[in-house]
Amino acid sequence: MPALVVVGAQWGDEGKGKIVHFLGEGADWVVRYQGGDNAGHTVVFDGQKYALHLIPSGILQPGVKNVIGDGVVVNPRAFVEEIKMLEGRGIKVKGRLFLSLAAHVILPYHVYLDTLREEGGRGIGTTKKGIGPCYEDKVARIGVRVADYLDAEAFRKLVRRNLKVRAAELAKVKPLKAIEEEVFDGYEARRKFLASFAADTGLLLDAARRKGAKMLLESAQGSMLDLDHGTYPFVTSSNPIAGGACVGAGIGPTAITAVNGVTKAYTTRVGLGPFPTELDGHIAHYIREVGKEYGTTTGRPRRIGWLDVPQLRAAIRMNGLTSLTMTKLDTLSGVHPIKVCVGYKLGGKKVSEFPVSRRAQLEVEPVYESYPGFSGDLSGARKFSDLPRGAREYVLAVEARLGVPILIVSVGQSREQTIVRDAAGLWMRQDPRS
Ligand code: IMP
Repeated sequence: MPALVVVGAQWGDEGKGKIVHFLGEGADWVVRYQGGDNAGHTVVFDGQKYALHLIPSGILQPGVKNVIGDGVVVNPRAFVEEIKMLEGRGIKVKGRLFLSLAAHVILPYHVYLDTLREEGGRGIGTTKKGIGPCYEDKVARIGVRVADYLDAEAFRKLVRRNLKVRAAELAKVKPLKAIEEEVFDGYEARRKFLASFAADTGLLLDAARRKGAKMLLESAQGSMLDLDHGTYPFVTSSNPIAGGACVGAGIGPTAITAVNGVTKAYTTRVGLGPFPTELDGHIAHYIREVGKEYGTTTGRPRRIGWLDVPQLRAAIRMNGLTSLTMTKLDTLSGVHPIKVCVGYKLGGKKVSEFPVSRRAQLEVEPVYESYPGFSGDLSGARKFSDLPRGAREYVLAVEARLGVPILIVSVGQSREQTIVRDAAGLWMRQDPRS
């Protein structure tokens, strides 16, 4: 019973949505294990475009069952809205989506606190969706879980208590009474709606696994935004790395059979924080426009940089990646030369690993290797051999540097624009370093 984790290997927006949708065809279950509606997963198929924030992209594959795991933070309003959007477009959701009773709930005051901090000079460039404050409540053990949300009496008590706990900060936004009214406005209808999806998802997944089901576990953000292993404090408040899949889905590590890391052919980041290979000038502008590098959730222009091998090696290590997917290779067409960071310099000394300290992350200078690049339209390539020689050489050079097979190459937004180099190797553990 294979269980494949698909993680972002960079700072998010790597194209996980497309890949999870692509691989989802061969899966029985797709599970989101962390994050919330801060994520933006774009999926294009049959000429239609879907922007998903909270619901796993497996929902777009008929026959696949989907779980929002206990590690996710769920804004009930966003949940209702996204399901209505999907149903409005003819996607059947009922009976195919299960919401963990243990997931935590994002309420209007979390969004206010996030926005207040961002705009009050303490910002790190969050999506202002209330993600951090909701996880703060979880860790402080005052959070509201879906199970509490469904219990009207318990919910009212918890909300009133929490508003008191956060009163000093929230008073800067509006009177507490007004925030309380906002929380309860339309609550009953949302409560009933959520109740029809809520389940003990840990039990469901365990039962499915015992029956031999094929499972895909998807991270919402990239590894470098991981709370523990990313570029702290410029990170999200949960664990997108593969270990987070066990915590956030409620399954043991022995169940995971393989981990695929998704990387772009270059690097992007939204929000503040270190980014050693960041570019400005005309190449960044070209890649941003050709690659449509604007946030799905916030519309913010993404920062652009060259591929960073030490950063990707860190992602390989912290996730135990068994394979890689490289997306957006088509975007680099016409860029000559293409550079790849193969190490850094700091204070005149060679540094070969992505540093842990904040200062070093900001101060390292990339050492680049150049590749001639390639031209032409790659979007029609369906086999690796269809790619121009320069593109193949680029992929193979990166693969050799990383020591992990790049099994999927994506050359466009739609699902057919995907080259699979070895389908069998994807779902099986093949740790290249063991
Ligand atoms: P938060 O997750 O909204 O708290 O934001 C924390 C950091 O994670 C910020 O730098 C965000 O830009 C970044 N972030 C959160 N979600 C995504 C995503 O889906 N793609 C890219 N960056 C994200």
